Amino acid sequence: MRAEQDVGIVVGDDGVIVERGAFGQVCARYPQARPCRLGEGLLLPGFVDCHVHFPQARIIGGLGMPLLEWLDRCALPEEARMADAGYAQAVACEFVAGLADAGTTTALVFGAHFAYAVELLFAAAEDRGLRVTCGLVVSDRGLRSELHTSAQRAYDEGLALAQRWHGRGLSRYAVTPRFALSCSDELLTACAALQAAVPGSFVTSHVNENPAEIATVRRLFGCDYVDSYDRHGLVGRRTVLAHNVHPRDRELERLGASGAAIAHCPSSNASLGSGMFPLDRHLYHHVPVALGTDVGGGTGYSMFKEALQAYFMQRLRGDDGVTLDAAMLLYLATNAGARALGLGAEIGDLSVGKRFDAIWLRPALGSPLDSCLRHADTAEQALARTFALATSTDIAGAWVGGVPVKATAVAA
Ligand code: GUN
Ligand code: ZN
Repeated sequence: MRAEQDVGIVVGDDGVIVERGAFGQVCARYPQARPCRLGEGLLLPGFVDCHVHFPQARIIGGLGMPLLEWLDRCALPEEARMADAGYAQAVACEFVAGLADAGTTTALVFGAHFAYAVELLFAAAEDRGLRVTCGLVVSDRGLRSELHTSAQRAYDEGLALAQRWHGRGLSRYAVTPRFALSCSDELLTACAALQAAVPGSFVTSHVNENPAEIATVRRLFGCDYVDSYDRHGLVGRRTVLAHNVHPRDRELERLGASGAAIAHCPSSNASLGSGMFPLDRHLYHHVPVALGTDVGGGTGYSMFKEALQAYFMQRLRGDDGVTLDAAMLLYLATNAGARALGLGAEIGDLSVGKRFDAIWLRPALGSPLDSCLRHADTAEQALARTFALATSTDIAGAWVGGVPVKATAVAA
């Protein structure tokens, strides 16, 4: 981790950081630059949320149920409401506002089962200026019938969406089978064909989240959960699978060899009682791990909270837990996600050459966070206090590629 006080950062018109150094020196070297003085507070890289469901923006807080019951009672009825374009439009706007407000500048967004709703999400994210990778969610069994599609329709609608949005501005396409439990082999074959037809597109889904779900996948496919995707060619460098709370060693071996990443969603795993994430085993098998809020199974958009929950979860694992320090939490919430999304060369930290995707933390004067930061002895301590105490309301500004996405009140 690198931390500096009184830093000056020069951002080019293309949003790329061209200089970083002592504020006075940088100002002297770039007399033409329009200064934006933040004064107090902390500047951090923008957050990268690797697993968050847009249609679930209004159902956060369905507590007390395991995954499959929560899907039936909370998530899927709301997902069905996305058929109504007016409803989906309102939810898409609330969702992107929730991301920006929380300082999430990049997200791998689980879309909706209706192509028009996904279109609305892409448009809302573009309007707001966020980096999103998203796609049409597809299923052809096991859910409510209005959420089912066919392999051909999944391919055709996905391709049409990808042709409009993949590579347009900051948007990219993700082929999105909901989870193996709700997909036939024929549908997964169509998903693989779609990814092949859209170069650079991603695959995202769920894996090994809950024991009852895993048992059903084994019954349906006769194989491990990871294999249900892998045998269709859906596990590779541009694959991000959420959860993986209960993997077998051979699945971790395969994930490690493939380069696929796992989106660890600790709040959701705790809320739905899915289990304790075996981070040690992922690290042992060289499986890349990033963070996801999993809204609405998760309990909000804050990546501060998500990272803190990841820390708690590992502490509770006792001797098997990986004790995460503040620098690791920041890495998980930023750079790890950037890498999982193939954006490691562009975003994830505030180095020269990267895009200026950043958040400015300025807690209210006299608040517990303000007081803890003023009395921090080191940058690591300040960061740990930030993860312990910060909420979205402490974020005074956020930028994507140098463009504000959350209101800032700064002196020129
Ligand atoms: N598995 C399939 N769909 C979902 C979902 O919406 N949320 C979570 N947490 N797991 C899922
Ligand atoms: Zn999810």
